[in-house]
Amino acid sequence: MNETSIRYQSGFGNEFATEAVAGTLPVGQNSPQRVAHGLYAEQLSGTAFTAPRSENRRSWLYRIRPAAVHGMFEAYAQPRLSGEFAHGPVSPDQLRWDPLPMPEAPTDFVDGLYSMGGNGSADEQSGVGIHMYAANRSMDGRYFYDADGELLIVPQSGRLRLHTELGVLELEPEEIAVMPRGVRFRVELPDGQARGYVAENFGAQLRLPDLGPIGANSLALPRDFLSPVAAYEDIEGDFELIARFGGHLWRAAIDHSPLDVVAWHGNYAPYKYDLRRFNTIGSISVDHPDPSIFTVLTSPSDTPGTANMDFVIFPPRWLVAEHTFRPPYFHRNVASEFMGLIVGEYDAKEARSGGFVPGGASLHNCMSGHGPDAATFEKASAAELSKADHLTGTMAFMFETRRVIRPCAQALGAAHRQTGYTECWADLKKHFQAP
Ligand SMILES: [Fe+2]
Repeated sequence: MNETSIRYQSGFGNEFATEAVAGTLPVGQNSPQRVAHGLYAEQLSGTAFTAPRSENRRSWLYRIRPAAVHGMFEAYAQPRLSGEFAHGPVSPDQLRWDPLPMPEAPTDFVDGLYSMGGNGSADEQSGVGIHMYAANRSMDGRYFYDADGELLIVPQSGRLRLHTELGVLELEPEEIAVMPRGVRFRVELPDGQARGYVAENFGAQLRLPDLGPIGANSLALPRDFLSPVAAYEDIEGDFELIARFGGHLWRAAIDHSPLDVVAWHGNYAPYKYDLRRFNTIGSISVDHPDPSIFTVLTSPSDTPGTANMDFVIFPPRWLVAEHTFRPPYFHRNVASEFMGLIVGEYDAKEARSGGFVPGGASLHNCMSGHGPDAATFEKASAAELSKADHLTGTMAFMFETRRVIRPCAQALGAAHRQTGYTECWADLKKHFQAP
């Protein structure tokens, strides 16, 4: 890689222009007869050609070889990664898991993906696959792209250096990245191992939510989203290209790095965001607003206001509401909620052995009751409310989907599933006394 330090350009969905070699980008047209420095011009379209201008996403890449240059694809077996979420019975049980164990054998990001559940499919262009990853080896001579969905990557432990066609992104826990459909990349592990969560969004691309009465600011600010500057690899060797396509993985030989884009311009690019920059808002009188105030990114569906998926966080914040039960309320939801914990303690659950711990996960499906455990309820019901509570050192998140999330058989049967999870509500006592 030819960069000496990782640089970014800021903005959400901006029209970027970046070149690793000066004088590469054509002026006044996209596809000149001859591109500077002997490069090829190639368009990468992330939306239909005719999508409305506000939705339209495409970039022009100026590269050493076109993306078409590789061998034939053959099926690639990775049995822990599922692409089929649309069928089969699903119980309404509340579910929770301990962290995904780290692999013992050398395992890279692609082989370390482990499906938890999901809904919809790439064919339907709707729904989301929910995966985790645990990896202990950098991708070496392997490159990956996902044609089925964009990848929302949420590291929980260990940094990721994402070498992509459009440049390099480095992520640490409490940062996230979105890898658009089709963008080729490899994952390097600067810390030797890494674990985290991935939402594979089959629906409309993630975007910032509308703010309604909140006004022009707050939540995630567009300028805090960072896309890479152009950086390229000019190397040849006995490499492989792994594709996620039609719910399966495919492998093709490739004799050069596909990360050979010397310059690009456009608005279809990977990006990262630091969750600690989220401008959190909340109640300053009584009660809780709904957790939609914590939405970082949303993938809309065809129904206005009803998202295909929302990415929601529970960041550090002050709780000041008067005469109010301050933890998240008891709840049933027409949407389905998959939660993860990046760091610290979630304020609806006591952090004790066997609880909701960093790297763990929970699933509360459509209309399944959930909420604080008994210990949290008792403590919060008796808490002194004349002072504010300051929640610090915590970052939980939720992938919330309009459709039921079907857990995978391997997740239901996993040794790290907490089969006694629902007992956390068993001690909620009857306090009612008839007058
Ligand atoms: Fe909920």
